[in-house]
Amino acid sequence: MTDKIVIASDHGGLTTKSALIASLTAAGIEVEDFGTSNGDSVDYPDFAALVASAIARGEVDRGILVCGTGIGIAIAANKFPGVRAAVIHDEFTAQMSKQHNNANIIALGGRTMEPEQACRLVEIWRTVEYEGGRHQLRLDKIARLEKEIQAGRF
Ligand code: RB5
Repeated sequence: MTDKIVIASDHGGLTTKSALIASLTAAGIEVEDFGTSNGDSVDYPDFAALVASAIARGEVDRGILVCGTGIGIAIAANKFPGVRAAVIHDEFTAQMSKQHNNANIIALGGRTMEPEQACRLVEIWRTVEYEGGRHQLRLDKIARLEKEIQAGRF
């Protein structure tokens, strides 16, 4: 386990991803970039899978995903066991994604906000504390649901 953050985007999130890498690196955070690396059109599920599978395997604790809206890439990431990917779009959702949901991936829109705003939101998610308590009971329920779904109970 490491404090490293893994990050990936599709073409719609590339500019924001570059800004996030610069901002996190400047803050002393180790960042591993899983692509995409140029503006060619790519499919966001492929990049969601790179980050989400690293978390599902327990190799890293935290990831960041960026597509045009953050929506598609979060939907794909949430297919992986143990992943809690949250789309955040303002200061409040950034704060709640950690305090209440303990999101281990946040998803941002490269076409819905300026890169500077994305950097501010990541800083909030990164530094706010998870509250635990009653919220942990709910996360435990989500984990149980995941197991039941895998076992074919639904
Ligand atoms: C790609 O054009 C776009 O659909 C994608 O970046 C994302 O917004 C999907 O949710």
